[in-house]
Amino acid sequence: MSVTDERGGSESVGAGPGFTAGEVTVHRLPAELSKVTRTLRRTGRKVVLVPTMGALHEGHLELIRAARRVPNSVTVVSIFVNPLQFGPGEDFDSYPRTFEEDLRACEREGAELVFAPTRRDLYGDEPRTTIDAGEPGRELEGASRPGHFSGVLTVVAKLFNIVGPDLALFGEKDYQQLVLLRRMVRELDFPTEVQGIPIVREHDGLALSSRNRYLDERERAAALTLSAALAAGTHAGSRGADAVLAAAREVLDSEPMVELDYLWLCDPELGPAPEEGEARLLVAAKVGGTRLLDNALVELGPASRVEPAR
Ligand code: PAF
Repeated sequence: MSVTDERGGSESVGAGPGFTAGEVTVHRLPAELSKVTRTLRRTGRKVVLVPTMGALHEGHLELIRAARRVPNSVTVVSIFVNPLQFGPGEDFDSYPRTFEEDLRACEREGAELVFAPTRRDLYGDEPRTTIDAGEPGRELEGASRPGHFSGVLTVVAKLFNIVGPDLALFGEKDYQQLVLLRRMVRELDFPTEVQGIPIVREHDGLALSSRNRYLDERERAAALTLSAALAAGTHAGSRGADAVLAAAREVLDSEPMVELDYLWLCDPELGPAPEEGEARLLVAAKVGGTRLLDNALVELGPASRVEPAR
């Protein structure tokens, strides 16, 4: 593992410096990382970016594995706890920071490059130019966390400009984030494909999240209500949207420790739910002091049509 830095050259924290397959090289400075990925692209390699805020768990590792499966590619994992996407009173200061463990995980999974800028490296003085996700960024998560999606879109736009990825992978757990990022790429003409990777769950259904480590034993048990509610909702899909919401709501109401923020059924682009076909059921709730998100695909309407007998 090696850490390179334009200020101090290359500081080796393991094997020698430089780019070697099977070994991760950490860049802290945007200009340096840009230079490396530019060179790699010129040699015909595809650059695949996995943006993270660190505290890597199995869900992130699945993203890295998916990146590694892209033929003739190089995997860049960014690790940056982005202050812009945390509101006042949120958990920016206490957000888990496990940099050394994260680097070992990246190395184990075969990611070649890690981009880990400091706040100053990335933003310099406080940024004044930000990206506004528009009305869809002020709904659902955006309603409870004003400015959150502007922070997310701004940092991801910067990462795209610095890394120049052909492909960027994001977990479907943050479903609204994924939809808004796809929209940003489309509407602002980024030459990057954004791909969502299915949610990774614990054996009992809990969606993996870096914030799960805030949960004590009782809260963790209560948190299972979210995935159970989604399962109940999904199961009711053939009976239509109202039945889906009622089934999910009943499960959520059964657990007093769950403080529901929203339960929302929509089409895959966050528009109104269709009468029939593919929809998304989204839930956000606080359990103890921890805000958790989950979502699931729901098939609305008759699961299979019976052709009339002739
Ligand atoms: O999903 C996350 O971890 C963050 O929102 C992201 C996309 C890395 C931006 O900071």
